[in-house]
Amino acid sequence: MPSLPLPQTAGQRDAALRSPAVAATTPALECRGLTKSYGNGRIVLDHLDFRLEAGEYVAVMGESGVGKSTFLNLIAGLDAPDGGELLIDGVAMSGLDDDAATLLRRQKLGFIFQAFHVLPHLTLEQNVALPLMLNGLPLARARQLLDAVGLPGRAGDFPRQLSGGELQRVAIARALAHRPRLLLADEPTGNLDPDTAADILALLRDEIRASGASAIMVTHSHAAAASADRVLVLTRDGLFPARGGDFA
Ligand SMILES: Nc1ncnc2c1ncn2[C@@H]1O[C@H](COP(=O)(O)OP(=O)(O)OP(=O)(O)O)[C@@H](O)[C@H]1O
Ligand SMILES: [Mg+2]
Repeated sequence: MPSLPLPQTAGQRDAALRSPAVAATTPALECRGLTKSYGNGRIVLDHLDFRLEAGEYVAVMGESGVGKSTFLNLIAGLDAPDGGELLIDGVAMSGLDDDAATLLRRQKLGFIFQAFHVLPHLTLEQNVALPLMLNGLPLARARQLLDAVGLPGRAGDFPRQLSGGELQRVAIARALAHRPRLLLADEPTGNLDPDTAADILALLRDEIRASGASAIMVTHSHAAAASADRVLVLTRDGLFPARGGDFA
């Protein structure tokens, strides 16, 4: 006679809720009704809803000026939304004070800015080591990453000695240094030739996969977008899945 399943106890139910399988369903990022306008009254993001699963790599495309960088800046805390809620790894940012929000972002986020923001008075190695230092991690990875982005032997150089594409690669190395849970990349290959861009995209993907991280990459490049798991297009009406012709 087949045995009947025993009723689940409250303790077993609690244990199941704490299991990794349940924790893994917490999205890396969730935006609910995210809204942002600037002084001239134009609404850039209008009640934007978005969910990024843990381990997912999404590309965001869309016409210039539509709000892609604004979207990333809000997630990164570089700008404040007018309304809506932002949850990073299940934590509602509105519930944190400034210090706690800064700490969480420092630990969990890596950001490749559209304008690099490499610090001019630090060497390349010091620039890349910055997130390691801030998070109390060993600094040796800085040199490894400079090698990985194709800048071996340049660790002691200063940013003014570099080309635009080389600076972009320093910014990429810096964003990856502390193995962030969520990588935000704003046109990370915008200044690179196609071969270097392909190498950098492969590095980004490998790093994301190896650390189980999630990523949002804003790009105008169809080739770059094609390296993501999912491609979305930002329009004035929100984020929508790209049709094949939008990026293929
Ligand atoms: N600090 C600011 N003050 C006022 N307006 C701003 C500010 N930042 C962005 N904007 C405006 O918000 C809109 C969205 O800008 P955003 O930089 O997000 O566009 P984008 O989609 O990243 O464009 P691109 O593809 O050219 O980088 C633009 O109209 C821009 O002029
Ligand atoms: Mg932009």
